[in-house]
Amino acid sequence: MGSQWGRDRTYLRAVREGYRSRAAYKLQEIQDRYHLIRDHDNVLDLGAAPGSWLQVARGLTDGRLAGIDLSPIAPLEGVTTLVADLTDHDLREKVRSLLGTVNVVISDAAPKLSGHRSYDQARAIGLGEEVLAFACDVLKPGGNLILKSFQGEDFSTLLEEVRQYFFSVKTFKCQASRKGSSEIYIIARNFVGYRSETEGPL
Ligand SMILES: C[S@@+](CC[C@H](N)C(=O)[O-])C[C@H]1O[C@@H](n2cnc3c(N)ncnc32)[C@H](O)[C@@H]1O
Repeated sequence: MGSQWGRDRTYLRAVREGYRSRAAYKLQEIQDRYHLIRDHDNVLDLGAAPGSWLQVARGLTDGRLAGIDLSPIAPLEGVTTLVADLTDHDLREKVRSLLGTVNVVISDAAPKLSGHRSYDQARAIGLGEEVLAFACDVLKPGGNLILKSFQGEDFSTLLEEVRQYFFSVKTFKCQASRKGSSEIYIIARNFVGYRSETEGPL
């Protein structure tokens, strides 16, 4: 959570304001700019631990909220949490029965770093593709997606894939990301579904 210099200012601000991680400010920035989560939206957070995006989302909507992560998420009032691997396709049915209509999928998921840059980049892109496939399977038409990714090899391919399923797709660098980080968010609005009947999930 701290920077390479220890616990940085953003981290201390998060502690002061009761957020579970500094990542809270990234979702706030995205929301301030794009207003993707509306008053009554049902929201699914993929890769949600420790839960600061869920805390922010709870303040934005009175709809249903669910968070999924490999790690347990400490209880949050009004939020359903699951310990699970988002690449498990059986989860999608569970999410549909928990949330009903899913208006927005938000994902800050990132694989654990190995230190081997190209391997880590390939895994991050692979996870992004899984998030996209999950979102396409559960989102209602017109729904929105926030997808964390990393600039580098195959990022543009992932971005093109997202463009196939959403009416409007943009990228956004958060000020709250660490300096020099390749982290970037794909902001995808207005899910249009699959382009033809023959086309299934990714
Ligand atoms: C940067 S953290 C998310 C922080 C979160 N947005 C917050 O505000 O508290 C990335 C998370 O992605 C999760 N993750 C990575 N791969 C996953 C997978 N296959 N299934 C579920 N969660 C995964 C990690 O366990 C980690 O908790």
